Amino acid sequence: MSEAQDASAWVPARPTLPRLAEAVQACRGCELWEDATQAVLSSGGPGARVMLVGVQPGDQEDRRGEPFVGPAGGVLTTALEAAGIEVGEAYLTNAVKHFRFRPRGRRRIHEAPELRHLVACHPWLEAELGVVDPDVVVCLGASAGRAVLGRRVRIGAERGKVLEGPGGRATVITTHPSAVLRLRARGGYDEALAELVADLRVAASVGS
Ligand code: URA
Ligand code: SF4
Repeated sequence: MSEAQDASAWVPARPTLPRLAEAVQACRGCELWEDATQAVLSSGGPGARVMLVGVQPGDQEDRRGEPFVGPAGGVLTTALEAAGIEVGEAYLTNAVKHFRFRPRGRRRIHEAPELRHLVACHPWLEAELGVVDPDVVVCLGASAGRAVLGRRVRIGAERGKVLEGPGGRATVITTHPSAVLRLRARGGYDEALAELVADLRVAASVGS
């Protein structure tokens, strides 16, 4: 049997968020389901006006089945609050729905997904965009930008502006909260957080 090229065969024809959340558990659109605990679809409701797209679930998200519940999620929640976006108003999801990692002893070390994983998982994101139909999509980092816009993005040059995404949808690119988090040890955390908040404010201003 040949391997599936992407997730499309597993996406329900008439999607709702509960249907997607159930169906994604059976997805075999790439090999990442094999080692993960479960697929992580999203959090937030179909009425959300802002959709935030991360990369993939991390260790804690993989165990708990919810996006952004680990350390990066803490930074994101802080930034959303500072930008005046209520977490209840936001839909949180990822470009890739299964956790990619390599084992090191008992630890699981996060590994960035490859382009082929972003491509394979894209049908889920597309279905979510159709169901939620947000006013604005925020791409957290270059992988999310690649997944949403279908092209290479440069965070430094493109962040914090309202771009036109597929179908004319307002799209804002910003940095990933994990990148902000890494600066805690190195310095520059406050500035990086302030930049993330400023970009989220741009997103919050769309449609209001
Ligand atoms: N990083 C992401 O990109 N997504 C998550 O859900 C958690 C961490
Ligand atoms: Fe399917 Fe995406 Fe999981 Fe790959 S990562 S198996 S495409 S849900």
